[in-house]
Amino acid sequence: MPDSAVEKNTFLRDVKTLRDQARKSLDSGAVTAGYKDVGQTIELLQGALATEIVCVLRYTMNAISVAGISSKSVAAEFTEHAESEREHMLALAERIDQLGGDPDFNPEGLLGRSATEYGHGGTLVEMVEQNLVAERIAIEHYRDLIQYFTPKDPTTRLLLEHILKDEEEHATDMHDLLVAHQGTPKLK
Ligand SMILES: [Fe+2]
Ligand SMILES: [Fe+2]
Repeated sequence: MPDSAVEKNTFLRDVKTLRDQARKSLDSGAVTAGYKDVGQTIELLQGALATEIVCVLRYTMNAISVAGISSKSVAAEFTEHAESEREHMLALAERIDQLGGDPDFNPEGLLGRSATEYGHGGTLVEMVEQNLVAERIAIEHYRDLIQYFTPKDPTTRLLLEHILKDEEEHATDMHDLLVAHQGTPKLK
């Protein structure tokens, strides 16, 4: 192999080291020797998991409350979002499990671990506003997490990017509902 080709691949670790490391600590499953601070990753994902649980609860509560007030279509939108947040919740829990952690579904201290709030119900517009605020918090929270995981853990980053895309769609849906029910566009 010419010298330039050898130099090009200096970022690769030698195959013998990789093979030796892979055979050690088989009980760690997908967590290999190159993964640093798995405890920190699990803690961060527990926070995201709590955020999603709170979002499932808020949208579920809102879907039932709003149906009683006036709008079946808004209730359907809230229900759809609750299902989407549930998918996020499960995906995060599975990733925590894959990394060797126990997903924390304990209701005790849930709001303290969550980035978003449960909300307080109210009128249709108030509920939509609370959800829009929650989505905007989630978007910023996931952006911070994605930045943290970008050099460190591409699999977790991909998962969070997928969730972020959904949260931006949720925020747009809530914004559109606000426009429909208040009449004034909020976004330029
Ligand atoms: Fe979510
Ligand atoms: Fe969301």
